[in-house]
Amino acid sequence: MRLAPLLVAAVALVAGYLIGTSPASVVPPVMPESSLVKELPPWPVYRFFVGLNDVLRYLAEKTTPPDIRALELSNSFWQSVVVYGLVKHGAFDALAEAGGTSRCSAVALKTGTHPHYLCRFMHAGATLGIFEEPEPGVFRTTAISEELRTRSRDRALWLSAMLRDNYVATAEKSIMTGAPGCVEHLGAPWWEWHADHPYESELFDRAMKDFSLRTAAAVVGALPLKGTEVVCDVGGGIGTLLATIWEHWPSTTVKVFDLPETARRAIEYFELKEVGNNATAIPASFFDPLPADLKTCDIIFLKNVLHDWADDDCVKILSNIKQSAAPGARLAIVEATVGTDGPSFERAKAAVEAGILSTCPQGAKERTLAEFAHLLRRAGVIEGDHQTPTLIKLRELLSLMIVPL
Ligand SMILES: C[S@@+](CC[C@H](N)C(=O)[O-])C[C@H]1O[C@@H](n2cnc3c(N)ncnc32)[C@H](O)[C@@H]1O
Repeated sequence: MRLAPLLVAAVALVAGYLIGTSPASVVPPVMPESSLVKELPPWPVYRFFVGLNDVLRYLAEKTTPPDIRALELSNSFWQSVVVYGLVKHGAFDALAEAGGTSRCSAVALKTGTHPHYLCRFMHAGATLGIFEEPEPGVFRTTAISEELRTRSRDRALWLSAMLRDNYVATAEKSIMTGAPGCVEHLGAPWWEWHADHPYESELFDRAMKDFSLRTAAAVVGALPLKGTEVVCDVGGGIGTLLATIWEHWPSTTVKVFDLPETARRAIEYFELKEVGNNATAIPASFFDPLPADLKTCDIIFLKNVLHDWADDDCVKILSNIKQSAAPGARLAIVEATVGTDGPSFERAKAAVEAGILSTCPQGAKERTLAEFAHLLRRAGVIEGDHQTPTLIKLRELLSLMIVPL
């Protein structure tokens, strides 16, 4: 009986702490119908569930015997293989087309797959929460299967079809030779190889888009703008981040700088998103002096670029931006800054680094805030030993670091 008031007091204390210490959310002037910004939970709720997840995961792992945990870890690839098989052969589309519930044999007929294997894959998917299985052999869509059918599809395909083999090569060979996983597996550095492989290059861009859509929403929910800025993105891919910013702040002008083929795809993406005259995509390499257009930028994003490169290359990229940008512009680095989150997120950052090790030149890695500050200091962007970029937490894995140029 005496426990109840104690419990209420503890809940009130935690809620008060979370509300009192959470950052304010930014609400943009326009919220499109399909905006993912609307899906961002309020900061205190977000922080509570991330913390709860850390605690539950810790308990689940601590209560699993070490031999079982070792087996789970050794065999964890089975989960991604199940996802790959289902995405690759269109099982999610077929189930959705059947109204969301269907026998797996009917899904097999529709997808031209073998019912014995497909049904076992779908059952395995049900044990993972991808489907519900209300009766044996009958499957129903869930929020996860819908994700894998729509905005997480290309990312799932790319992770299994491209990243996995390169990561295996990293584990088998790079660890001995010191050459990047992609060089060991594909026989060439990542970007060189992709220049000659349009299908894979396009799949990569689409996978990056899947990764970027949620981050873009989290950036919109955290970065206060005046609304009239010229917002740029160096190595900005097909322009996912910028199109999202423009959709929420339609008076901004947006400019992507990327390699020619990707810049061409950015133009197509901007057309699809009807950004019109407010958007440009400029072919450029960040290893060369950047085009004069960069002088017009008020904010220059560099998202998931620095982790692709060794320190000396990062310094070159940052120096080129510093030299080509107008004084007073702000650099906005978006990366999985190491050491700023609880165990689940730090683990997810290690997973991001797995991709980096397998696709990027030797020396590429995830970095701490102090390591980013060191790079910025070497590039002449910040001065003094104690200056660091301003860290803005996002309601997702990556963080935003802002620094004046
Ligand atoms: C990991 S992706 C990140 C894309 C985007 N910023 C995002 O987060 O979705 C790295 C990007 O750097 C671009 N890139 C690679 N080398 C480049 C170079 N030398 N100059 C400009 N962009 C480059 C790639 O085309 C790709 O779009």
